[in-house]
Amino acid sequence: MKAIRINEFGGPEVMKIENIERPVPAPDEVLVEVYASGVNPVDAVIRQGENESLRSFLKLPMTLGWDAAGIVVETGSDVIFLKAGDHVYGVPNFPGDGSYAEYCVGKASQFAIKPQSLDFTQAAGVPLAALTAWTGVFGHGNLKPGQRIFIQGASGGVGGFAVQFAKAKGAYVIGMASTDNVEYVKQLGADEVIDYKKQQYEELLHDIDVVLEASPIRNNGERIKAISVLKEGGIFVSVNTDFPFNDELTEAAKIQDVKVSLAPNEPKQEWLAEMAELIDASKVQVLINKVFPLEEVAEAHRQIATWHVRGRLVLDVKS
Ligand SMILES: NC(=O)c1ccc[n+]([C@@H]2O[C@H](COP(=O)([O-])OP(=O)(O)OC[C@H]3O[C@@H](n4cnc5c(N)ncnc54)[C@H](OP(=O)(O)O)[C@@H]3O)[C@@H](O)[C@H]2O)c1
Repeated sequence: MKAIRINEFGGPEVMKIENIERPVPAPDEVLVEVYASGVNPVDAVIRQGENESLRSFLKLPMTLGWDAAGIVVETGSDVIFLKAGDHVYGVPNFPGDGSYAEYCVGKASQFAIKPQSLDFTQAAGVPLAALTAWTGVFGHGNLKPGQRIFIQGASGGVGGFAVQFAKAKGAYVIGMASTDNVEYVKQLGADEVIDYKKQQYEELLHDIDVVLEASPIRNNGERIKAISVLKEGGIFVSVNTDFPFNDELTEAAKIQDVKVSLAPNEPKQEWLAEMAELIDASKVQVLINKVFPLEEVAEAHRQIATWHVRGRLVLDVKS
């Protein structure tokens, strides 16, 4: 089968199309014929190999991509909830070979039936970013209807889903984005949008129940600023799990009586299924910015690495 592989870490040029053996599913896995694969900033971070906390998990050569939509062709002997022929979306195992390939394997528990209203290219833009948002907002943030959530990076892949999920579940949503994306985040359903180029959110916000850090900023001083807008008992959640909290931040959180939590995404089938329902009920939109053929993966990586893509980038593996 065809796959985009890296044999060394480096720039977009290290990605090559190769012919490799089709993977075989373990007893708890499904083999998926990939129709489309999402492209996420983390793919470029992994390709580059410079992130120490991720690098220790990675083995070369490897196939990139952790966002798949396609058709189940084989199931492991322990798999009961999915069968050959199912149209699914989900995340292949991490670490391990990914979805920039004609076939991928992943734990069946990390895949679910894709939203019926989406085609494969649209569905491939959902799983990783949406699961990260869901884990942060509900898993760690424990957001309840009527509560107020402040989402940093609200125009991004993770933040854009976080805005929509929080709104769909009845929260009051305040997003933050750059000037060009203020209207976009309002269209996603945010009740208020802060323009970080022109406004100081810490002077405007207070008594927030949950802050979600879904921007690429890695700075504990900025996090201390963010927890100052929380109410007593509020929760600061960061999806930037590769950047731990320092003592100063932990101390500030103790003094303000707020919780802080790092949220690695949890690829749960039941969450993927609930998201599919929200998408099919038109409560959550999936905006695809651009679909690239496999041969143009380097250009997709150049764009995703800017941290300013509005909407999702997708590789068309089999149209
Ligand atoms: N925990 C996990 O498992 C997991 C999984 C996936 C991603 N992540 C992390 O989640 C974060 C977001 O990822 P993503 O895929 O959503 O990225 P993305 O789609 O590139 O979105 C990043 C967003 O951050 C905003 N941003 C960029 N530069 C900024 C700055 N200097 N100040 C404030 N905001 C800025 C951008 O908004 P504007 O364009 O409006 O500036 C953009 O919408 C990343 O740090 C990523 O590493 C974690």
